[in-house]
Parts: sequence; structure tokens; C-alpha cells
Amino acid sequence: MHKVIAIFNQAGGVCKTTLAMNLGYHLALRGHRVLLVDIDPQASLTTFMGLEPHELEQTIASAILQEDTALPIHRDLHKMSLVPANITLSAAELQLASVIARELRLKDALEPETDHYDFILIDCPPSLGVLSILALTASTHVLIPIQTHFKAFKGTELLLDTIKKVRKHLNRTLAIAGIVPTIFNNASQDKAILEALREQLASIATIYAPIPRATAFADAAMSRQPLAVYAPKHPSLLILDEIAKGMEAL
Ligand SMILES: Nc1ncnc2c1ncn2[C@@H]1O[C@H](COP(=O)(O)OP(=O)(O)O)[C@@H](O)[C@H]1O
Ligand SMILES: [Mg+2]
Repeated sequence: MHKVIAIFNQAGGVCKTTLAMNLGYHLALRGHRVLLVDIDPQASLTTFMGLEPHELEQTIASAILQEDTALPIHRDLHKMSLVPANITLSAAELQLASVIARELRLKDALEPETDHYDFILIDCPPSLGVLSILALTASTHVLIPIQTHFKAFKGTELLLDTIKKVRKHLNRTLAIAGIVPTIFNNASQDKAILEALREQLASIATIYAPIPRATAFADAAMSRQPLAVYAPKHPSLLILDEIAKGMEAL
């Protein structure tokens, strides 16, 4: 059975895109067929994966706006496939307002491909808007990166509430795949936040080991490579591999 995992948090800069690309790569290394889907108009995932968003004519926007348009899939990028995005997606988001059953558009667009992949990872935009709802509706699971920062709890209730609403109205079986504390500084404040995250959220989902703050993640993204390619001995790779194993066990 294939798994479709939305990587979701309405906050920006919490490692969603970094996690999508690197988790995807670790799943691919473990022998799985992986499709990454960029549904953020900022198109960071598309950029991190080595494409130039503004040069693309066919993106996820075309597939969700026009029924019967095939998904534009770029294959063999770091052992994975990618459906890219670009800024036209923000116009598409507005156009979707008048589309019937718009929440199903991403699910329907992915449908013909689901048998060809073991994992489909959807990189959500930093918002609770319609694009994130489309992603959560299309997914079997949601994986939540949360930065171990004092602001960590600020949006968490809203985030969980959104998941609850999607479950109630659009996708009854949506499951939480886990919570990944990210950009963790080994300092007392971050440790306290991590402890609080564990106390308050362990009853909701698995809480993975934190991904440390490391400039290598940004450097790898700048060179358009997964961390495992850019820095094959980086200690954070063990954590990514653990998360990949967790996704296999879902
Ligand atoms: N563990 C980390 N340590 C330091 N910087 C990171 C880490 N993970 C990601 N980054 C950098 O932080 C920025 C935001 O990460 P990104 O994955 O784009 O977040 P989001 O998709 O949630 O907005 C990027 O420049 C990225 O390279
Ligand atoms: Mg992002």
C-alpha cells in the first residue's frame, strides 16, 4: 500500500521543504519509489531539487486547475520523481475558489500515479489556506515538523485543529505520521521546549529525535543536493534514517 504524506506546518522556516527532500531521499535509498510534490507557490522544493521554477510551463498548478491534464513529473532527480511548482500556483489558488469540489483536486490529480510509487511526499506551503487543505485531503498521513523555539506552541493548536477539521469533513482516515522537532540547538531553552513538546504531544503522535541546527542543511540545499550526497558522514543522517524507518512502519 502506498502512503501519501503531507509535510505540514503553517509556520515558515521550520524545515518542511528540507525534510520533504531529505526524507524522500532516505526512503529512496531504502529502495522505495518516491514522488515529491511541491504545492508551495514559493517553489523551494522545486529549486532545492535543481529545477528553475520560472522556466517551467507545466507545474502542479496545471494539474489541479485543468481536469484531465497529466501530472508533470520530472524523473530521476536524486533517485526520486518530482512534480514541480512555481509562482503561477498562487494565481491557481485564487482560481480554485470557484471550482466545484476543489478540495479533491490534488487527490484526483495524484490518483493515476499512486500505484507507481511507494511514498508520495507533499511539501505544503506555510499557510492554512486552500493549498494546504488540498494536500491534507490528498494524504493518508501528515508529518509535522516543529521548530524547537519558544514560538513552537504558538500555532500548534491551530495546526491540530485544521487536521481535525479535515478529518471531519474531507478525509476521515487522515493519520498523524509523527512530529519532528527541528532546527534544534543543544542549549537549555531548546531542551526545555523539546521536553514540553514531548509532554504535550506524545499522546497525539510519535515524536522523533530532533534534527539539530546545522548549516550543512542550508549548504546542501544551496548546492541542490540531499544532505546525504552533500555530506555523506553528517550525524543528522542517522536521524533522517530513523524517520524513514518510522514512515515504513506506518
Ligand atoms: N536543521 C537545519 N539547520 C539549519 N538550517 C536549516 C535546517 N533545516 C533547514 N534549514 C534552512 O532553513 C531554511 C528554511 O528551511 P525550509 O526547509 O525551507 O523551511 P520551510 O519549508 O518550513 O519554510 C532554509 O534555508 C534551510 O536550508
Ligand atoms: Mg517550504
